[in-house]
Amino acid sequence: MTPDLKVTLAGVEFKNPVMTASGCCGYGEELAKVFPLAKLGALVTKSITLAPRPGHPPPRTAETASGMLNAIGLANVGVDRFISDIMPFLNRQKTRLIVNVAGSRIQEYVEVCARLNDIEHIDMVELNISCPNVDEGGMEFGNDPVMTEKSIAEVKKVLRKPLIAKLSPNVTDIVAIARAAEQGGADVLSLINSVLGTAIDIETWRPRLTNNRGGLTGPAIKPIALAKVDAVYNKCSLPLIGIGGINDYRDAVEFFLCGARAVQVGTALFVYPDAPVRIVEGLKEYLKRKKIKSVNDIIGKVRKY
Ligand SMILES: Cc1cc2nc3c(=O)[nH]c(=O)nc-3n(C[C@H](O)[C@H](O)[C@H](O)COP(=O)(O)O)c2cc1C
Repeated sequence: MTPDLKVTLAGVEFKNPVMTASGCCGYGEELAKVFPLAKLGALVTKSITLAPRPGHPPPRTAETASGMLNAIGLANVGVDRFISDIMPFLNRQKTRLIVNVAGSRIQEYVEVCARLNDIEHIDMVELNISCPNVDEGGMEFGNDPVMTEKSIAEVKKVLRKPLIAKLSPNVTDIVAIARAAEQGGADVLSLINSVLGTAIDIETWRPRLTNNRGGLTGPAIKPIALAKVDAVYNKCSLPLIGIGGINDYRDAVEFFLCGARAVQVGTALFVYPDAPVRIVEGLKEYLKRKKIKSVNDIIGKVRKY
């Protein structure tokens, strides 16, 4: 028996539930030299903004115990160059494509999404709502249920593709944000984005990132991410994509058991670029060993005390 790894999110079928996480393999060009991207459930791009962004000056990454800190500052080529220079490469890849979109105003998200609408190969858009809103004094969209709902509702008015809202863990009540995203019209939720953190060089007394603080990712955040997926599962009706510290198939299985229907792999790509392929193989072996026909049969099946 070959276990079935197919999953469906918002009507879109994925050949397996393993995706890359935004920002951890750019637009996929380097990763395609390591393995055929067709082996992925989906490729998720770096966040795309309306104008190109150079990001923060270096150092913008720092290693921590069991993880890494980054404050890249959404460096990206901007939507126009993404369409003209990157899409020809992505169009040749036989994988599902999810484009992650960021912005500092609602209108920016809307304009970027409007330009992506007519590109056939883009299967879904993932909205990075962990972005400071310049109109609201830098408060992040995803920290506030009202702004979350509003930004998603405005994007949904123009976007003709399924929308994933990517949730931040840096909130008091992630269930309230998840419900607001559902209310606004999101089709899928992905969680979590990075956990706010910093690190200081004790010789120079300077933060290790020029942005002074950044986002913690990698194995250090897996327990946080699992608890957030568990908290949101069944509290709203949307399918979930689990993200945070997934290194191997065992990590992925934990997310499925807590309610994720798919997973994204981020920081692990810096250490093991072929991690997604090994996770897919590991999942197959695991399901076979457990005599389980489909990955869908383990979703949300954690046996709670
Ligand atoms: C270097 C780096 C850049 C990232 N850039 C983005 C980004 O542009 N947009 C976004 O939504 N998430 C971004 N993320 C967050 C990841 O997509 C993911 O949510 C997070 O890293 C947790 O997963 P992980 O522990 O597997 O890395 C970035 C993470 C890292 C490490």
